[in-house]
Amino acid sequence: MSESTDSRTTLDLEAFPPDFAWGTATSAYQIEGAVAEDGRAPSIWDTFSRVPGAIDNGDHGDTACDHYHRWPEDIALMKDLGTDAYRLSVAWPRVLPGGDGPVNGAGLDFYDRLVDGLLDAGITPSVTLYHWDLPQALQDRVTDSHGGWTERATAEHLAAYASVVAERLGDRVTQWATLNEPLCSGWIGHLEGRMAPGLTDLTAAVRASYHLLLGHGLATQAIRAAASGSRIGLVTNHSTVTPASSRPEDIAAAARADGHTNRWWLDPVYGRGFPVDMRELYGVELPEKAGDLEVIAAPLDWHGLNYYFPVTVADDPAGPAPYAREVRLPDVPRTGMDWQIDAGGLEAFLLRLTDDYGVRKLYVTENGSAFPDAVGPDGEVHDPERTRYLEEHLAACARALRKGAPLAGYYAWSLLDNFEWAYGYDKRFGLVHVDYATQRRTVKTSGRRYADIVRAHRETTAG
Ligand code: FCB
Repeated sequence: MSESTDSRTTLDLEAFPPDFAWGTATSAYQIEGAVAEDGRAPSIWDTFSRVPGAIDNGDHGDTACDHYHRWPEDIALMKDLGTDAYRLSVAWPRVLPGGDGPVNGAGLDFYDRLVDGLLDAGITPSVTLYHWDLPQALQDRVTDSHGGWTERATAEHLAAYASVVAERLGDRVTQWATLNEPLCSGWIGHLEGRMAPGLTDLTAAVRASYHLLLGHGLATQAIRAAASGSRIGLVTNHSTVTPASSRPEDIAAAARADGHTNRWWLDPVYGRGFPVDMRELYGVELPEKAGDLEVIAAPLDWHGLNYYFPVTVADDPAGPAPYAREVRLPDVPRTGMDWQIDAGGLEAFLLRLTDDYGVRKLYVTENGSAFPDAVGPDGEVHDPERTRYLEEHLAACARALRKGAPLAGYYAWSLLDNFEWAYGYDKRFGLVHVDYATQRRTVKTSGRRYADIVRAHRETTAG
């Protein structure tokens, strides 16, 4: 019996509610291409991808998957997979090329057509407003800090942009997310320098993190005002954190890493304010004004969890904040990103959001794995490792559901192989393989397996 057949019999499909959303996810800069078409202006990722050495192989998103032109084919792929939900992001620099100011009608028209195409195909769109592609014009607008998210005005501009998009699409789109993974924008973009805008400055990073969450709160208000009936969420990425040993120093390091990765982003959104231990650790004054914390904690309709891997950490007093170094465990399964595979971390985090933060409706908004796939001589892409990753993580969702997590949907990352940020095109996360030379799409065996699971779940709940 093959592994796949074996776990088919063990995947607890009845744990998933009948109206569970089965989806795939992408983001604008990673798939659209057409970066200079129909009035789109550069984003910070267009700029960052031109910095020598910033991206593997010197890759950039100029063409990516050419989704801007091939979206009907991509919707047909979703139909082929039998999925009924799709998480996409809108490119801010297409809609407001200057960041604020005049609306680019042609940019909005693209999303209008895309949303109609999805609805015609029976696929419910879930729209993320900010998946890291800040208009470069806002990064360049430096008043008292480093421009971009280090400036309070950027949070206000996000809300104005959210209104424009919600006013145009809100008659058909009900499911909205403000931000994708503010941790990556804040910490990786401003502290570690591995993502746009490429800063390595703790003060800038703390300010950016604050303004991202403020922007989330302001955008939440703006969407509610622009489109009644909207269901609004925030998408954050998390890892379970384990100390590398029972030494008190490592246990303390794990608590700091948990603060940096998890609590810093969740506590303020769920009304607890920014964690005091982390504020002391960073030693950076927050750019706080009266009333901000209430805005940041605006009530949400759902929370989106992006989960990929767990981390194990040791004390690292000489390192950067939070002074915890990741320890690479030997002999554990890993993906092509070198990320440890541990589906138990997904279950644990779904339950933490449920039990500790009181989240009432959850989605797994991203989960997936990169492996070095290729189209074989038989014309197929055989990816048993990705299939296994998918099955194990869906089994973790089922366990969390049985334990009470209000999980309403799962969006596999990703529909297509795409531009994987600093890793360029080498890291392939798709359920569908993309040959970048020809733009030919080939559904991988993991995609077929996902389609089987979706179909089997429908049959289970129909009967
Ligand atoms: C997440 C991002 C997504 C993709 C996956 C692999 O951090 O949200 O765009 O790059 O990782």
